[in-house]
Amino acid sequence: MVAGAQFQLAADKSSCAHLRAYVIGDYGSGDKWQAKVAAAMTLLSRREPPDLVLGTGDCIYLAGDESLTGTPSADILSERFDPYYQALSAEFFQCLGNHDLIDVFGGDPAAMIAHTYQSRIWRMPSASYGIRGLPPWVAVHVLNSNVFGFDGDFAEGELFSEPAMEHELDAATEYFSGFQGLKILVGHHPVFTSGKRTYRYQGDGEIRCMRRLREMIDGIGVHFYLSGHEHHQSHATGPTCEHIVQGCGGAGVKQNPRHARRINGTRLSDKIFRFQQVMSGFAVLDMDQHFNVRVRFIGIPAHAPADQFRVIYEYYWSGLDEIGDRSLRPCRQPNDNPRRRHSG
Ligand SMILES: [Fe+2]
Repeated sequence: MVAGAQFQLAADKSSCAHLRAYVIGDYGSGDKWQAKVAAAMTLLSRREPPDLVLGTGDCIYLAGDESLTGTPSADILSERFDPYYQALSAEFFQCLGNHDLIDVFGGDPAAMIAHTYQSRIWRMPSASYGIRGLPPWVAVHVLNSNVFGFDGDFAEGELFSEPAMEHELDAATEYFSGFQGLKILVGHHPVFTSGKRTYRYQGDGEIRCMRRLREMIDGIGVHFYLSGHEHHQSHATGPTCEHIVQGCGGAGVKQNPRHARRINGTRLSDKIFRFQQVMSGFAVLDMDQHFNVRVRFIGIPAHAPADQFRVIYEYYWSGLDEIGDRSLRPCRQPNDNPRRRHSG
């Protein structure tokens, strides 16, 4: 038995038939790029307010050549994170990234956890936790992916711990155990990538150090795994799970010119790369009690102001049976998949 932490939404959503989450990651750059994405989120929220925000990590970076002295406190989050998002009036459920945890807080999440009880918007009650107060048809668990590793490859070598990884796997498995609804898992490190890390593993798109997480996701039937770390917006389909990477919330962006893409629902190996784009932005995840799920990627062109944001990709599922391999369907033409729309 693993005693998993839980945190209650401030506004009880347990009777809601619909839930909307914004998803954003790699957003703590503290510069105009973070400000621009935050402004776009605020603008969209006026007509499509989120019930909550799911953060995919790297919530704060060291700024420039700044070096921190002494023990960083939660004050840095009050100064460098909260002001960007106050106008959103939504709680941000955060996960630990590598840059925030290691570079800024020296490997100790205590200050990030403490800020949960000082901030109006920041929520990280533990290194991993479930969210309470959601509708009974959806469950969201946040894990610490920094401690993962596999066969000599490590998410973050200095933080790898076999017992800690087993704890993360057990906690998530227990959290979702017996749950029949929509299962959403959040962590920082992706399982699959079409980004720069494809080179590190012979370009096959699996981030090998996360193999144990991948096995757990497939084993217990997680429906959506939301991650960051790669500074792009991407969607890939695995055997049981849709993998969404959101890492363009303000961090530096660099295109991978050789990224793989599969848009027509054809499985070539263990995943389908449906979409990838490097553009500042975030995602909107709409869900309802009948398991209709729609994801939209919101992008802001590099030299455009925040109010020029637009939908650069969207995909929808009309039931749990359409998620993962079950979403595959023969397509006569490469762009013949009516569930996928792409512009920009
Ligand atoms: Fe990262």
